[in-house]
Amino acid sequence: MAVELRSARLLSPSERAALFNAAYEGYLVPFHVDEATVAFMADAFDLDPDASRIAYGDGEPVGLANLGVRGEDGWIGGIGVVTAARRSGVGKALMQAVHEQARERGIRRVWLEVIVENTGAFALYEKLGYRTVRDVEVWSLPLSVSESSDAREIPAEGAHARIRELSSEREPWQRADETVAHYDNVRGLATDAGAALHRQPGEHVQLLQIGGEAEPLLRALRMLGPVSVLNLPADDPAAPVLRELGAAVAVRQHEMLLEL
Ligand SMILES: CC(C)(COP(=O)(O)OP(=O)(O)OC[C@H]1O[C@@H](n2cnc3c(N)ncnc32)[C@H](O)[C@@H]1OP(=O)(O)O)[C@@H](O)C(=O)NCCC(=O)NCCS
Repeated sequence: MAVELRSARLLSPSERAALFNAAYEGYLVPFHVDEATVAFMADAFDLDPDASRIAYGDGEPVGLANLGVRGEDGWIGGIGVVTAARRSGVGKALMQAVHEQARERGIRRVWLEVIVENTGAFALYEKLGYRTVRDVEVWSLPLSVSESSDAREIPAEGAHARIRELSSEREPWQRADETVAHYDNVRGLATDAGAALHRQPGEHVQLLQIGGEAEPLLRALRMLGPVSVLNLPADDPAAPVLRELGAAVAVRQHEMLLEL
């Protein structure tokens, strides 16, 4: 198969969504995006279609790699190859092409997360020079309406400033300040000993950032709906509190870094 790599800009949003779904066939967790989700991800995570790459095999799209760009930091926001074209070097070529695009844009560090059971992808990333920085977990905490909590709603800016005072831990890409800045309707919650940022686009409450004493904040949030937390560092002080409250880890991932 003759493989060519081109800018993701050449595909329409609906073609990009279709390729994303085909390239994630057989993934460890159910994965389906539509055009709106692709547009949302591009905006929230600063995916750059000019820096992202599509692989064409014999003229047909067979894989994609998305690159998020934030100053000197880059992030792999999805890489996949259609089943029939796997294990023939397409994934590696896509990653290398995206690294080249990253270098041209002055990016020094490329980040990604990979589900720990995804040993094939992990092997590819290690081969390319990525190293695991820490493990992060996706949590879900069920709704509980009868709670008591002294947490009060405060403006998001105030909650954010308080979180930054209380926690010096680097937030993963999808909950970083740059992501939060893209969201509408981010809400702040605080107690005397902690603060949180959250949003509720549907039934689920998304906890975006948290600092300080987690328990009263989590109790207040789970009165609003089932709470999800994306990529909480495994050693975050909120993790044992979540477990204590009955939350479960849906997915554990390695956060990996390549220094260019
Ligand atoms: C992960 C994925 C993108 C790899 O693409 P690919 O085109 O098959 O990868 P390559 O052929 O370029 O593989 C390069 C090297 O990576 C490693 N590798 C890739 N897939 C592997 C697998 N399933 N098992 C073990 N090693 C694997 C090997 O070292 C391989 O070299 P080799 O074939 O000479 O042994 C592909 O399996 C895929 O699309 N999976 C579904 C989506 C997904 O999991 N994306 C990653 C999300 S983090």
